[in-house]
Amino acid sequence: MSRMSDTFIHEPVMLDEILSVFADMNDGVYLDATLGGAGHASAVLSAHPGVSLLGIDHDDVALAAASLVLTDAGLGGRATLRRARFDSVSRVVAEEGIGSLAGALFDLGVSSPQFDVAERGFSYRFDAPLDMRMDRSQSISADSVVNGYDEYALADMLRRNADEKFAGRIARAIVTARPIRSTTHLSEVVVSAIPAPARRRGGHPAKRTFQAVRIEVNAELDILPGALRDTIALLAPGACLAVLSYHSGEDRIVKSVMRAAETGNCTCPSHLPCGCGAVRTVERVRVSREATREEQVRNPRSTSARLRVVRKLSVVKATK
Ligand SMILES: C[S@@+](CC[C@H](N)C(=O)[O-])C[C@H]1O[C@@H](n2cnc3c(N)ncnc32)[C@H](O)[C@@H]1O
Repeated sequence: MSRMSDTFIHEPVMLDEILSVFADMNDGVYLDATLGGAGHASAVLSAHPGVSLLGIDHDDVALAAASLVLTDAGLGGRATLRRARFDSVSRVVAEEGIGSLAGALFDLGVSSPQFDVAERGFSYRFDAPLDMRMDRSQSISADSVVNGYDEYALADMLRRNADEKFAGRIARAIVTARPIRSTTHLSEVVVSAIPAPARRRGGHPAKRTFQAVRIEVNAELDILPGALRDTIALLAPGACLAVLSYHSGEDRIVKSVMRAAETGNCTCPSHLPCGCGAVRTVERVRVSREATREEQVRNPRSTSARLRVVRKLSVVKATK
């Protein structure tokens, strides 16, 4: 009989690098805010017998698969799994009676199975209704965005979420072609809106539009800064936050939140001592930013991965 964990196959990205980040983690609670198929989480738990897991995901299919993986590995007894969006991390941590975190990981975006299950509507590779909800209990879907946003809002979304060069042309084509009910129809409309020479460059021409709609449906960029700030506040002294992002919009946010915590938002000129009272709460941890060539060849999803890590300071230090 096929088990859900056999069909939810997602190779954890930069696993060796993540294990190195948490190599000297103290015993306590480790947060995986994007549990997925528990690939990273089960490896981290196996390496740290004194650590327990708080695993969060807003996708019920991912959580069910993660639960099987952890149980099969004999790690279920050390894992608490919660269906939640990661912007409710503070509430979930408080409800579980956890004081502080020994470490935390965000591995952003979509898992391979979410892309590969046709009816979830994430991919232009399969014909499916326009869905793209990671949390299938929410009402906003790709259909509501594609058929509900006006032309200006669509163009703005395409630029904001995917740096799409042809945002205006694509938005106009979408509005003209509505109603658009399927992934195939959306993909055809986008392809027809892009000039022929540009269609032949840089992968599938609809890739960026699908990414932009997915990010919009799941409010991925809106909730990220607050979730990262809340998690930094919850880290125990010496604990690390690691974030894997997969496109420039995400990475910009991660960099800016980490930089703000690292500098305490100090506004003083760099050649003068700090007089603005800013306090820094983390230090940057130097790590390989990208997957190795060998991993990129083995797992194409790792090609766009960017890793950033900060460590909570034991004593909050003045900025300079
Ligand atoms: C790239 S996968 C994580 C894979 C995981 N690290 C592993 O090794 O199996 C990202 C997961 O995060 C979840 N996710 C994305 N955004 C989320 C959010 N805002 N709140 C909670 N879960 C989220 C997705 O449903 C997906 O299962």
